[in-house]
Amino acid sequence: MEATRVALDSRFAIGAVDPRIFGGFLEHLGRVVYGGVFDPDSRRADAGGLRTDVREALGRLDMTVMRYPGGNFASGYHWTDGVGRREARPVMRDLAWQSIEPNAFGTDEFLALCGKMGWQPMLTVNLGTGSPEEARSWVEYTNLPVGTRWADLRAEGGRIEPWGVKLWCLGNEMDGPWQLGHVPAAEYAVRAQQAAKLMKDCDPSIETVVCGSCTPDIPTYLDWDRQVLEYIGDGADYVSLHRYVGNRDGDTPDYLAVPNSVDRQIEDMDAACRFVQGRRRSPRRPYLCFDEWNVWYRELAGDGRGQRAPHLLEEHYNLEDAVVVAGILASFVRHADVVRIANLAQVVNAIAPILTDGDRMLIQSIFHPFAMFSKRRAGVSLRVAVDGPSYRGRTNGEAAVVDASAILGPGVLHVFLANRSDSQAAAVSIEPADLRLSGLASAEILTGPGAKSENTWAEPDLLAARPLADVRVREGAARLELPPLSVAAASLRLA
Ligand code: AHR
Repeated sequence: MEATRVALDSRFAIGAVDPRIFGGFLEHLGRVVYGGVFDPDSRRADAGGLRTDVREALGRLDMTVMRYPGGNFASGYHWTDGVGRREARPVMRDLAWQSIEPNAFGTDEFLALCGKMGWQPMLTVNLGTGSPEEARSWVEYTNLPVGTRWADLRAEGGRIEPWGVKLWCLGNEMDGPWQLGHVPAAEYAVRAQQAAKLMKDCDPSIETVVCGSCTPDIPTYLDWDRQVLEYIGDGADYVSLHRYVGNRDGDTPDYLAVPNSVDRQIEDMDAACRFVQGRRRSPRRPYLCFDEWNVWYRELAGDGRGQRAPHLLEEHYNLEDAVVVAGILASFVRHADVVRIANLAQVVNAIAPILTDGDRMLIQSIFHPFAMFSKRRAGVSLRVAVDGPSYRGRTNGEAAVVDASAILGPGVLHVFLANRSDSQAAAVSIEPADLRLSGLASAEILTGPGAKSENTWAEPDLLAARPLADVRVREGAARLELPPLSVAAASLRLA
């Protein structure tokens, strides 16, 4: 295959990469919470019931923000059920996932976990069956000093100091007919505006995320966003996007080109925000919060059949999924000027990079690209020109065989590459116009025996990020070879 040249120039900066694009999502769904992060019966649990092995693995992903408690679950959840003495908390039937919710893990357990992990919490209020008043009370519970009803309830539970939760989602996927309390855009806009007002009246320092279109496939796509954004105006600091992709037609080349459509989705939403900003003649605009994204297409059944912690959405990820995850992260990096927050959905067991089985834990393929990007996130995203072979995906359009993105950090250039060919190696040269590369700080590669290869309990380390030594730096440029179906991340020192 003809070589690929990746050209870049530090003067062509897109924007600083917001560390919050490396966020996660912890929903009361299947075994994400119970049997995932929280499992008091496990030999691996600490005194508070948190799984130490899961925490250690999540620590390696170095996530920045964590969204909670849903998702669809949030639209039927009353936060007051999950606070106070555990023995007194009600056992509830969750209608989103048809499961039993014991409420043993709630606001304080989540916020304490965030503190331990260094995550910034992001709470989703219930605008399905809940009310703006209930949302406001939650802000008081978490953020106000003691002396009033809800803050005093927090203190009674043992937490005197406010938790200081800054990020709040105004409901979840309210455009989706499956959502509890789903309403048309005009009605949601009123709910969201009222909730945002009450919540910000309670704590003006918070930031809000309004529900945008939950998928480009929904008939109300962009029209929903226009209506909601026009009505809520300055009440929204961010607008949400969601996206789940998959190789539904068994067409690997097309699937690997799916990040093209994520680019498009981001640009569509940015255009909606700019359009509304123009119409409102406002200096302010909401930025993009991609607060659910992942590969999800095999394990779709979401009926927990009245069980506690049922096995739901437990996808097993393979190598092609990992290449797609790298492509979506590259898309976020390339849109650093507008994408400010993103959350991999989810963190453990359900559509997740980590699986547990009793006391065992398995790291899945998609764990690795996330970790490879996350540890190299500090800096400014640069425009990259990829000059090399390309192909046309059946539905996802023209795609470079080698996908590339880059972040310029202090004294270092991080380059992320993916070879989408499943049969041929790709020779790549990285050629900065105005910078001189002087050496290799670190590089890793993820590849495997085939597109469908995956980590299993029998072979847990088949797919892993391994050190990549063969990166040749000469005359200010770098050269390397990517095996078929691989993801590479290289940190190159600057002269
Ligand atoms: O992440 C799983 C589910 O996908 C979320 O609960 C919902 O928001 C989306 O449809």
